[in-house]
This record gives sequence, C-alpha cells and structure tokens, in this order.
Amino acid sequence: MRRVRKAVLPVAGLGTRFLPATKAMPKEMLTVVDRPVIQHAVQEALDSGIEQLIFVTGRGKTAIEDHFDHAFELESTLQSRGKLDALQTVEATNFPPGTIAYVRQQEPLGLGHAVWCARHVIGDEPFAVMLPDDVILGGPPCLSQLLDVYKGLDQSDGASANLIGVEAIELALSRKFGVLDVGQWDSEQRSFSAKGIVEKPEPEDAPSNMAVFGRYILDPSVLTYLDRQERGAGDEIQLTDAIDASIKHGVPTYGRLCEGRRFDCGSKQGFVLANVAYALQDSEISGRLKPAIRALLDDD
Ligand code: UTP
Repeated sequence: MRRVRKAVLPVAGLGTRFLPATKAMPKEMLTVVDRPVIQHAVQEALDSGIEQLIFVTGRGKTAIEDHFDHAFELESTLQSRGKLDALQTVEATNFPPGTIAYVRQQEPLGLGHAVWCARHVIGDEPFAVMLPDDVILGGPPCLSQLLDVYKGLDQSDGASANLIGVEAIELALSRKFGVLDVGQWDSEQRSFSAKGIVEKPEPEDAPSNMAVFGRYILDPSVLTYLDRQERGAGDEIQLTDAIDASIKHGVPTYGRLCEGRRFDCGSKQGFVLANVAYALQDSEISGRLKPAIRALLDDD
C-alpha cells in the first residue's frame, strides 16, 4: 500500500443544528473544554503521521484559517508579559508553511462534493478523510489505528483499498448513518470486509448495525465516482455512494472497529457529553467538577 500523507477535513457544512451559535462562527470553532473541535482532529492527524491537511471550507469559515495562523500581536504580548505557558499553547497551533491547504466549496452540496472539491490537491494517492465533528477520546489516535491496519493490507504494487472507521449502532438510529453491508470478520484486525454501503437506510433496510463514522482512508479512484456528481440521500452528493460504487467496481473495502469513545460534536448532546468527558480528564478542573456534576444530578 502507498503511504497516506494527506488528510481532507471537510468544514464547509452550515452547522444548522447549532444555530444561533453558528450564525457568525463556524461550528468547528466551538470548543471542547479549551480548544476548538477542529483542533482535536488536526492533532489526531498529526499524531498519526499525516503531513498535509486539506481543509474544504466555505463562506464564514475564516476563523478556522486564523486559528491555525501566526497571531503576531498576541504572541509578542504574551512574550513581553512573560506568559510563556500561554505562548506555548498558542504556538502549538502554528504549523510549518504549506502544512495546511485550503480549498473552497462554493455551495454545501454534500460531503462527497466537499471531498471532490479537493481532488486536485489530493492528486493520485491514497488519502484520509476526517470529519472534525467526530472527536475520539482514549486509545491510540483513531486515524493511526486505521493506518496501522491499512499498512498491513495487500502490499503488492498498485494495490488499492478503502478502509473506514465503523461502530456498532442501535438499528433504530440507522437513518443518521452510512451502514455497511458486511462480509467476513477478521477478529485480529477487528475489521469486516464490506460488500457495499447504504446511506441513511430505514432500520428495516439496514444491511447491518455497523455504521460509518468520520474517519476514512480512501483510494483516489473514489474521486472518479464523485466526478459523476450524482445526488443521493437528502439530495446531497454522498461520499458513501461513491465508496459503494468503488466497492461494486472491485476495490477491496473494509470497516474497522476502533478503540476509544466517539463523541458526535455535530449534535448538541454529543458536544455537551464530549465537554464533560474531556473536562473530567483535565486534572486542572476535574477535582471540583466531579462533585459539582454530582450535585447537579442530585438536584435534577
Ligand atoms: P453534517 O452532516 O454534520 O452537516 O456534515 P453540517 O452542515 O456540518 O451540520 P448540520 O447538519 O447543518 O448541523 C458532516 C461533515 O461534512 C462537512 C461538514 O462541515 C461536516 O464536517 N460538509 C457537509 C461539507 O464540508 N460540505 C457539505 O456540503 C456538507
């Protein structure tokens, strides 16, 4: 398998579930404790050995670009005031020039369309897709878990494959997910081979309870199916439909159960839970937080 150097992070969605918070602020800049949701995904990518991040942005998302840029005034003020810990925290969001590329999605036509917008920057090499809404706590970085399995797939020249993060869901929730039609289970790799993927099926039509979440490693051939610009569920251009087409054209595809607890920070419930979970891990605040949370629950 060729090395995966690039990760696409689509951040052009409207974030309607968080209105009015997202009226003037990208939802990816909402914070889980002290850092924006997007920074959790970026850190995971870098910790997994990704060298280039491709952000697919849209209108009103410039705060994301500013967040990952030098803030000269702030940095020099922190330096002159001797606030070196804070300075270090800020400097950790600066990366070597060229690490992040920004591509614009002019209209939010769906996740598949967002990934397709990055096709010229992706080029002809396997790439990761990370949905920043999914924040994963615990275990080795989630993307690195997928990359480890990916490296072990067929090593012969030119071999291609897709590998997708999956989790078991209650069937009643299938309308919210892409669901895998699962084949063989490999207990050592904690992975399934995939015979297909159905986007947002009704529970009675779901081929399994294995749902796709926001971590993918994809063969570049998937982009050719996105070229067709076919609309799917919700009248959007769906990434899962393109992956399904690539499976049907013989690209071996696997779903892998990952370690760690996933929080869907694109939903209010998941976002609040992520904040609680991360805060409870934060030694600076967890001591006082635990009794305060217990007291709130007792009052309820
Ligand atoms: P969501 O389905 O969560 O949509 O997108 P959304 O617009 O961000 O949020 P809601 O549902 O209105 O609250 C999943 C991921 O795909 C990106 C989003 O930014 C998010 O990372 N996306 C979605 C795009 O980049 N472009 C799109 O056209 C759609």
